[in-house]
Amino acid sequence: MIGSAGPAHFPNYQYVVGDVSSGHAVVVDPAWDSGGIARRIEREGWSLQAIVLTHGHSDHVNGVAELARLMPAPVYVSADEAAYYDVDVPGLTHCGDGATVHAGSIAVRAMHTPGHTVGSCSFLVGDHLFVGDTLFPEGVGFTHFEGGCASDLYDSVRRLGREIADETLVYSGHRYQHGPGLTFGELRRRNIYLHLSSRKDFVEFADRRTVAASHDRLLPDASATPTGYAALTWSDDGATPATRK
Ligand SMILES: [Fe+2]
Repeated sequence: MIGSAGPAHFPNYQYVVGDVSSGHAVVVDPAWDSGGIARRIEREGWSLQAIVLTHGHSDHVNGVAELARLMPAPVYVSADEAAYYDVDVPGLTHCGDGATVHAGSIAVRAMHTPGHTVGSCSFLVGDHLFVGDTLFPEGVGFTHFEGGCASDLYDSVRRLGREIADETLVYSGHRYQHGPGLTFGELRRRNIYLHLSSRKDFVEFADRRTVAASHDRLLPDASATPTGYAALTWSDDGATPATRK
């Protein structure tokens, strides 16, 4: 299930992966409305087995502690990310590169994909890939925030390009034009960063962008109520997040 909530100009996606046969569920990047996420899991009759964090930016993780309180479950994040961004919640567990998290009946493979942040992680569940802000359908996440590195992101994007099959469905932390769920093959066609084969070209292109003041407002204070807040909606409730007001 795909939830969307957060700053109205750039809401975050929160994902609930459920195994309908076992009733086990995994949440990716709970933020902004953990109560709403917990209620949705309860409504499905599922039990939360794990929370996985693609990275430590507050707009992706500001609901982790609350969700873990409501539904205790181990929280997985890379060791580098936990140390750098001081991620510290009950049940925190480090996930190594290539490690498989067995969340009840759901197998989640962690791939370290740094660049947007020091220890960003992507998670592969079957043929579904959750990439946080490492990769969007049309681009990549900013690398100018503290801990970001365009050269590391080059390696991560190249790695995804090598290791991820064309038919894999990709789920990002935000959207620009296209919503989540495009195939990696589709991203290969439309995302220029998957075409930049030289590190120099990639880094220069990624670093060309000026700081977008509006995007910066996402980061510093997760506890503040943002202006223009988009309440949690689910894309399977009859409208996609993009069309919901
Ligand atoms: Fe981010």
